[in-house]
Amino acid sequence: MNRTLSALVLAAAALGAAFAGGVQAQQSQAPTAQGTVAPAPAATPAAPAAAPGGIQSQNIFDVKPEASEQPGYLQQSNGERAKVQPGNNAPMWRQVGQGLTGYSSLPRSEAPEAGNLIQPIVDYPGALRTNAGEAWRQVRNNWIIPYGAALIFVTLLALAIYYFSRGPIQLHSHETGRKIERFTPFERATHWSNAIAFVTLAISGIVMAFGKFFLLPVMGASLFGYLTYALKNIHNFVGPLFVITTVFMIVTFIRDNLPQKGDLHWLLKAGGLFGGKSEPPSNRFNAGEKAVFWGGVMFLGLIVAVSGLFLDKLLPGFVYTRGEMQIAHMIHAVATLLMICLILGHIYIGTLGMTGAYKAMREGYVDETWAREHHAYWYRDIVDGKIPAQRSGPPGSASAARPMATEGSST
Ligand code: HEM
Repeated sequence: MNRTLSALVLAAAALGAAFAGGVQAQQSQAPTAQGTVAPAPAATPAAPAAAPGGIQSQNIFDVKPEASEQPGYLQQSNGERAKVQPGNNAPMWRQVGQGLTGYSSLPRSEAPEAGNLIQPIVDYPGALRTNAGEAWRQVRNNWIIPYGAALIFVTLLALAIYYFSRGPIQLHSHETGRKIERFTPFERATHWSNAIAFVTLAISGIVMAFGKFFLLPVMGASLFGYLTYALKNIHNFVGPLFVITTVFMIVTFIRDNLPQKGDLHWLLKAGGLFGGKSEPPSNRFNAGEKAVFWGGVMFLGLIVAVSGLFLDKLLPGFVYTRGEMQIAHMIHAVATLLMICLILGHIYIGTLGMTGAYKAMREGYVDETWAREHHAYWYRDIVDGKIPAQRSGPPGSASAARPMATEGSST
């Protein structure tokens, strides 16, 4: 019985070799995956040798099943399969799924992974044995998306609870009508271009990440497809604008965000935000704003910017392999989600949460009562003449003629 089987296998081998030999002969001088010319095999056509890190083949459609394990046998098997199951290319796809490197006409220098349709299978500690692309997909879909959505939801809920229980932070005294310039036109232009870019990126990013859960069922696949296609391109182009405006933000606001006397006290009292306590004195920016500046704009902003530029393939000197792009994507997604939550808090306090704050950034001026109650040290320095109450415009210009703070500090 065994002999009969061996004879059958040998016969099949001969047939297979005859079939596969033709293909091999054609390819014997074809460029290899590395772009060099491979020498023709001397006698028996052997399967391509397994390269470190993956199986090599000259043509992605010339895959010999199990080629790296049993040279010689596979051509027979392939040939036989072609006869009994024409069109069944499952073995090819099995090897493609294992990370086989084939040939593609894309230049190797520009697309070093072009011959790999699917990343190699890797064993992740404690995880499924799967290819890197699938592992990345699972991290995205099972971790980043649900926990990211939960984080945004919890942030919004916390802000809503705070707003409905505490309401906006109001002034305790009447406004005097005397104005102090809080932000120059340049500072406002910098802030708003950064804010517009950020909000555009946040909205487009949220739709790309979570849209299939809340928009797709409402809009339908076609409209949602067009929308995400448009938003993805907007995201790619606005990203670099955000990077530029973030650099402007850092340069513009870094000086007044350096640690100063009173910051620790402000932090220990949590800015008087809880329990209805009065607001501790602060300089031009309080410790909460400084935390947003250093944690949000500098730290997260730079991580988001660099990983985003990487995903846009705008950083020089990288080959941008799929593995690198997956890591950049995960860093980008986590940092942006944290940044969105932090900036949601900032937007809340800059609009609904504190009367007069939004007007300061829109028009540039605050009433001196606002300055005294919210930034007592800054107000005192203005009254003492250490900081000018009007910083923009040449002396005598319309804006410079606005009333100045004249009264002494209450602190
Ligand atoms: C719609 C979105 C936004 C609104 C409504 C808003 C509102 C405001 C307001 C009212 C102020 C003035 C606060 C004060 O007078 O002390 C301010 C300051 C500031 N904002 Fe925004 N903002 C927005 C988006 C952003 C974004 C996206 C960033 C950065 C990524 C940002 C970073 C800053 C910084 C750095 C300051 C100066 C205070 C500091 O340096 O700590 N803002 N914003």
